[in-house]
Amino acid sequence: MKSATKTALITGASSGIGYATAQKFHQAGYFVHLLARDQKKLTELHHQLPNSKIIVCDLSDPRQIENLPNQIDFSTLDVLVNNAGIYFSKAGDEFSLADWSLMFQVNVFSVAQVSALAISHFKRSNKGSIVMISSTLAHKPTPMTAAYSASKAAIQNLTKTLALEGAPFNIRVNCVAPGIVETPIHNLAKLDLETRQKRADLMHSLQPLARMGKPMDIAEAVFFLGSEASSWTTGSILDVDGGINIK
Ligand SMILES: NC(=O)c1ccc[n+]([C@@H]2O[C@H](COP(=O)([O-])OP(=O)(O)OC[C@H]3O[C@@H](n4cnc5c(N)ncnc54)[C@H](OP(=O)(O)O)[C@@H]3O)[C@@H](O)[C@H]2O)c1
Repeated sequence: MKSATKTALITGASSGIGYATAQKFHQAGYFVHLLARDQKKLTELHHQLPNSKIIVCDLSDPRQIENLPNQIDFSTLDVLVNNAGIYFSKAGDEFSLADWSLMFQVNVFSVAQVSALAISHFKRSNKGSIVMISSTLAHKPTPMTAAYSASKAAIQNLTKTLALEGAPFNIRVNCVAPGIVETPIHNLAKLDLETRQKRADLMHSLQPLARMGKPMDIAEAVFFLGSEASSWTTGSILDVDGGINIK
């Protein structure tokens, strides 16, 4: 029997957007499953969010994903947030097959695999909500992002297919497409102070709203799409990007 507390599984919860999303769902009273590879960071987050459980899983390894039902009871899940993702940039002709494979394994194949685990239970309970994270680059790619942009375009298409298939079972599938958000994914910390400042200024200036996003800007949108507040919304791609998409 299902408990009254709603539960969410958030992948990539140890950092950036996933971290903020975990905080948001927890604040709203959800029990949150926090999935990532880095146990230390997850443990710190777990101490902040007592109503949570840590799931250590490397999404680049399909066997670890297969094993997830031993760590999470998917039948108790209300919301799945497929947030984990990787980014690296190269010229299109420099991406090796191994690069493409890793990008698609983490950013797309793992999302399909984890979603399938959730959907089989959502079908039985005749409800459930999945939120994907794509990127502005899915519909507005820039040079040096071929594998990443293609992976995020795949996520947007997957969102719509799963939304169509899920609708008869009251399963909703939506997607947030973030613009440039201040998180460790940009690797700015590795740069010297002056270069970092210049890069940050440029990234702020690209948005009509003249600032990079904060992880919580995205978490608010993810929460809206994951929760009952959006109960008549499915198959949608919500741009949360400071307006960069219309520039
Ligand atoms: N920041 C942006 O500007 C931006 C813009 C558009 C879209 N996005 C998307 O937003 C999502 C979150 O990105 P972020 O900016 O918050 O990045 P981030 O701070 O680097 O966080 C990425 C998260 O994914 C997890 N992760 C990475 N590889 C993993 C793997 N193999 N297995 C399990 N977990 C893995 C990381 O945890 P561990 O390292 O501990 O495993 C971390 O929790 C990504 O899908 C990204 O593509 C970000």
